[in-house]
Amino acid sequence: MISTRLTERFGIQHPIICAPMAYVTGGALAASVSRAGGLGIVGGGYAGTVGGEPDLETELTRAKPGKFGVGFITWALERAPKMLTKALQHSPSCVFLSFGDPRPFAAEVRDAGAALICQVQFLSQIDIALEAGAAAIVVQGSEAGGHGATRSTFPFVPEAADYLKRRSPGTLLIAAGGVADGRGLAAALMLGADGVVVGTRLWASAEALTPKAHTDKAIGKTGDSTIRMKTLDALRGVPWPREYSFRCLKNKLTDEWSDREAEAFRAFGKLSAKYAQARAQNDLDMVAVVCGEAVGLLRDRPSAESIVNSIAAQAAILLRGGGTLKFTPQS
Ligand SMILES: Cc1cc2nc3c(=O)[nH]c(=O)nc-3n(C[C@H](O)[C@H](O)[C@H](O)COP(=O)(O)O)c2cc1C
Repeated sequence: MISTRLTERFGIQHPIICAPMAYVTGGALAASVSRAGGLGIVGGGYAGTVGGEPDLETELTRAKPGKFGVGFITWALERAPKMLTKALQHSPSCVFLSFGDPRPFAAEVRDAGAALICQVQFLSQIDIALEAGAAAIVVQGSEAGGHGATRSTFPFVPEAADYLKRRSPGTLLIAAGGVADGRGLAAALMLGADGVVVGTRLWASAEALTPKAHTDKAIGKTGDSTIRMKTLDALRGVPWPREYSFRCLKNKLTDEWSDREAEAFRAFGKLSAKYAQARAQNDLDMVAVVCGEAVGLLRDRPSAESIVNSIAAQAAILLRGGGTLKFTPQS
């Protein structure tokens, strides 16, 4: 058992949080992570402002009766703020906001008795999260799957740890980006984090809403096979703020568009019908298969419960060994 400020304050057994992945973290995945002793956070994603998302209230109901949270993409929540109100009626223990200004939502979250967790991509965003009263700040490295930015987890975490120690020592620090096994968790704790957010590893879990074809395509690939690019949202016609980019598997789509940013933004939305068609046809050469660099550490699609338990157990062994023990990864 690894006890940290995160496990103590959130009343969980393992310092492992399941990322609120849009289209992926439904109630079943969140519940499985929480049953294992981690914290499952249902992905409220675009708050219903972009088509095709699972019904959030259904997924929140599925996450019960254990402890669970809910996450939103903040700039999208601004367009549908009532979704937060509805989600809070399900009494989540926390609200995870990322990609935008959390301050307008902070009072409502606090009044509902939920803890606010803010994910940031730049050190400069930490002050805004502190102003919002975040109980925990997640620093997300560029290794992460899906949307993110340019900082790398390894230097970002200790820099944020030093910053928080000076500015707000009571605020928890969580690392995200590239953590997929016990080595990642142990390293993150050594870097100064109180816990980790795991996305890609749980994206390939039995309970995730991820289509099987996507994980079939990804498992066996190395970390070299992902790319971070800005053009995807212009092609899909989704209005993401320009500082964020998107990591997914390389395929024909990324080969065609990764270095044609200006052109993609000039054509903003005009190619969305083509993209939607490729998605309807499940053409994995022409749609994004969303995962991070940790794809190179995936070998299978087991239950989320077993993933969380094995990350925690491996990390505990490594930390007990003080770095002298070597963890043998799966072959
Ligand atoms: C498929 C997928 C979807 C994601 N969707 C969201 C999201 O809707 N909101 C969010 O805050 N983060 C999202 N993320 C990013 C995670 O919050 C987290 O930072 C990331 O998964 C951690 O890195 P890892 O993928 O290497 O574990 C997503 C990540 C993935 C892989």
